[in-house]
Amino acid sequence: MPKLTPDEKQPGMTSLEPIEWSQGAIRLLDQTRLPWEEVFLELRTPQEVVQAIREMRVRGAPAIGVTAAYGMALAAGSLGKGGRASLLVSLRAASREMAAARPTAVNLRWAVERMMRAAEKVAPDGDMGASLLAEAQLVHRETLESDLRMAALGALLIQPGSTVLTHCNTGALATGGYGTALGVIRRAWEEGRVKGVVATETRPWLQGARLTTWELTRLGIPFTLIVDSAAGYLMSRGSVQCAIVGADRIAANGDVANKIGTCSLAMLARENGIPFYVAAPFSTVDMSTASGEDIPIEERPSEEVTHIRGTPTALEGTPVRNFAFDVTPSRYIGAIITDRGVVRAPYEESLRRLVGSG
Ligand code: MRU
Repeated sequence: MPKLTPDEKQPGMTSLEPIEWSQGAIRLLDQTRLPWEEVFLELRTPQEVVQAIREMRVRGAPAIGVTAAYGMALAAGSLGKGGRASLLVSLRAASREMAAARPTAVNLRWAVERMMRAAEKVAPDGDMGASLLAEAQLVHRETLESDLRMAALGALLIQPGSTVLTHCNTGALATGGYGTALGVIRRAWEEGRVKGVVATETRPWLQGARLTTWELTRLGIPFTLIVDSAAGYLMSRGSVQCAIVGADRIAANGDVANKIGTCSLAMLARENGIPFYVAAPFSTVDMSTASGEDIPIEERPSEEVTHIRGTPTALEGTPVRNFAFDVTPSRYIGAIITDRGVVRAPYEESLRRLVGSG
């Protein structure tokens, strides 16, 4: 069982610790094994961290960022005592490898760049390993704090009595904290605003079916699981009052890259007059990317589409495109909930106002 710790924000409840630093290693809840098995991995080298991120043993943009930050601490700890310049060169190489593990989630790049800036500030006779561990722990703590701010702000957007649709998994598993979109839903549930949740299955990796339902069950929040293609029908029947998702990268104009299928949900929500919200920490906003067209979209192995848990569902050799993410144009997004505030269109201006306000 994952270690359960008292939840300050919700006395009497316990919270999930999917990422922890423990005795010189990263203790990581393996998300590929959920919901059937709750198995923790112990990562001791930066190479193991890169592999865990690539294989999606940890996934979700902020959770990848937190893990990579600890990964940089592992890299610093393993470098020994060489001269400062050579330590920084080796760390830079580790940071590049880590950042390339998954290309779309900008939190990964953000976290390793922050760790590099911290490394550059360590005094020549300072302890690089200890300093980077302290910085990684700060990244982790700040992730939880920003999740809680988003939850408080976002919950106010949900009308009492709503059934809320969400996609992929955006809870504690996806951030190592409280969650982004699912954190908002969780807080709104505690405030009595949410009647229930509709979770999309999220083909092909089934983050909704496997992970979101697992988290909602632990939290005692009522939910219904649907196949991705059922969302439009449910919306047209009036069974959904609001949709809320996370983000892997938000461009300066408010276009949002998120789990494949998000763009279709946003269009369906617009057609059915349902508000569509995005919740993401400001570290997911990439002001250096002008629009969604400039966001690199990860493509993953074809077996994720042609097989389900090792069982083929298509003929061998079937040609496949397996885009992990899509881009939702900002015109479909009613509001973006960040830890620095809730912003609305025109996003170019409203996001720019948040720069430097953290
Ligand atoms: O491929 P994944 O599972 O890492 O994709 C995750 C998502 O798309 C989430 O919606 C996003 O990272 C925001 S989660 C806090």
